[in-house]
Amino acid sequence: MSIRSLVEAYNALDRLDLRVLRLLEAAHVRREYIPYGLVVRWAGRDEGAVGRSLSKLNRLGLIQRIKGPYEGFRLTFNAYDVLALHTLRKSGKLVSISPTPIGVGKESVVYSGEIPSGVKAAVKFHRTGTSSFIRARKARAFLARRRHLTKLYEARLSAHAEFAALSAVFDGGGLVPEPIAVNRHVVVMRYIEGVDARRIRPEDALPTARDVVETVEVALENGIIHGDLSPYNILVGDRAYVIDWPQWIPASSPNSVEALSRDIARLEELFSGFNISIDKNRLINIIVNNKYKQIDFSNVYERVLRSFIKT
Ligand SMILES: Nc1ncnc2c1ncn2[C@@H]1O[C@H](COP(=O)(O)OP(=O)(O)O)[C@@H](O)[C@H]1O
Ligand SMILES: [Mg+2]
Repeated sequence: MSIRSLVEAYNALDRLDLRVLRLLEAAHVRREYIPYGLVVRWAGRDEGAVGRSLSKLNRLGLIQRIKGPYEGFRLTFNAYDVLALHTLRKSGKLVSISPTPIGVGKESVVYSGEIPSGVKAAVKFHRTGTSSFIRARKARAFLARRRHLTKLYEARLSAHAEFAALSAVFDGGGLVPEPIAVNRHVVVMRYIEGVDARRIRPEDALPTARDVVETVEVALENGIIHGDLSPYNILVGDRAYVIDWPQWIPASSPNSVEALSRDIARLEELFSGFNISIDKNRLINIIVNNKYKQIDFSNVYERVLRSFIKT
């Protein structure tokens, strides 16, 4: 669904509709389809009003109805988009969003938006999961009991993983978009004016290389390896910024040196045409000599798991 249709759907919702969406979301933690009777009971309103709301949400493409042994409902991904936008708006994190995407990647759709201070933001909707946390034991255990949430859960975990990395690297002084908010599967961060590094101008090459290496170093010192450091994920504007962090790999993981070497190889490929070399050993040594902060990344999934139970 386009963001325009989403915003239209959102604007058409009244309090009861939002209430029904939220209660379906909460009920999904236990089951895939929510029986009609349960929706009516939880909504705490007369059956006629709840029935009309369900028909409207169905028409707007925010829920799906099944008729089997019992009549039941489930949220669509569009509904999660609407709920995330609603929460971000209500909590004063986001004022508006652009009608067309500024970036459509393999794993996300990104819109520009505006935050209350008037600053331009990038609003990234995660569509699938690339976070390495998904393979973690706790995450798998959570999912084993909730197969129907897999896609959403992975998108959500990726968004939170990305937000955690952006926060750590930004706080450490690295050049990444300032993280503003995360809700469900959506990350709001500062918009970077710039172009990606695929066709870098010769005069930009050296400052870009310096900025990126500095950011890689800050990330490493915070225990984080980007894991997908391609020219597409470097935005060159006033400075060069590294974006797209959901797949980051902890420096303490067994394949960290390999992952970092791959990232560095991509940088060497990008900058070799300009006769710029990367001091690979210095970066690798941060991992090898354990010169990084141990991050407690169980915190990240704890937070996401809790956010599922709460909503
Ligand atoms: N903070 C940002 N500022 C400006 N543009 C951005 C920002 N974040 C993402 N984009 C745009 O959206 C595209 C996709 O975002 P990215 O984070 O790389 O996700 P994906 O995993 O889908 O590649 C980027 O290539 C870029 O064009
Ligand atoms: Mg990308």
